[in-house]
Amino acid sequence: MTKIAIIGGSGLENPAILKNATELKVDTPYGSTTSDFKCGVINRQEVVILSRHGRQHTIPPSQVNNRANVWAIREIGCTHIVATTACGSLRQEIGRGDFVILDQFIDFTRHRAVTFFESFEPREMKHTPMADPFDSYLRSKIIQTAKELNMKIFEKGTVITIEGPRFSTRAESNMFRLWGADVINMSTAPEAILANELGIPYAAIAMSTDYDCWKTDEAPVTWGDVLKVFNENISHVIELLIHTIGKI
Ligand code: ADE
Repeated sequence: MTKIAIIGGSGLENPAILKNATELKVDTPYGSTTSDFKCGVINRQEVVILSRHGRQHTIPPSQVNNRANVWAIREIGCTHIVATTACGSLRQEIGRGDFVILDQFIDFTRHRAVTFFESFEPREMKHTPMADPFDSYLRSKIIQTAKELNMKIFEKGTVITIEGPRFSTRAESNMFRLWGADVINMSTAPEAILANELGIPYAAIAMSTDYDCWKTDEAPVTWGDVLKVFNENISHVIELLIHTIGKI
């Protein structure tokens, strides 16, 4: 029996996609999750929804309790995680409103708990393979669905996750481009790492909302820009989620 956890990022704090949803609070050894779960059914598929930054978006990226979130998701029996995230584009061809179905990350966070394995049992070292951190089955379902819906998507892309909450300097933005990153955000790497540590298949739908600050022919990104573009395209995110879930 599959059960899908959706982790809703910026702009998707309180999506009205579950009819007759019930609320569930889960305690974890790592403290509270960033929101309660909304539980329900989409396309005959059991689904729970968690808000990464809280329902009112009061939790900044560095304070998101990713360990509690991912632990709780496993605790309630979820078999897959599909996350959404707003991101900045580091490539000319990735335009505002386009989707990138991430296949790699670069972790540039500095102050976050990014492991469940803080001590090892004797002879039980836990070094989780991370070469391909995004689940290929989930990614293929998202890509197939987006194509059927005629959405503009990039079938792969590397996200660099920065600590935030500040945006990057222009020097950083240019450096990330040289490193091979395609998009930039403040959330994905820790979440993907922790899901992999617990063996939960994880994929992320990244929506490009801005060009960060590497482009000299336009003003550097502001948070207002991010939210405006995300909100303008939110119906596409929801459509993609709903139709993908029916296929998992
Ligand atoms: N989220 C959306 N746009 C972003 C950007 N330019 N940098 C970091 N996180 C973002």
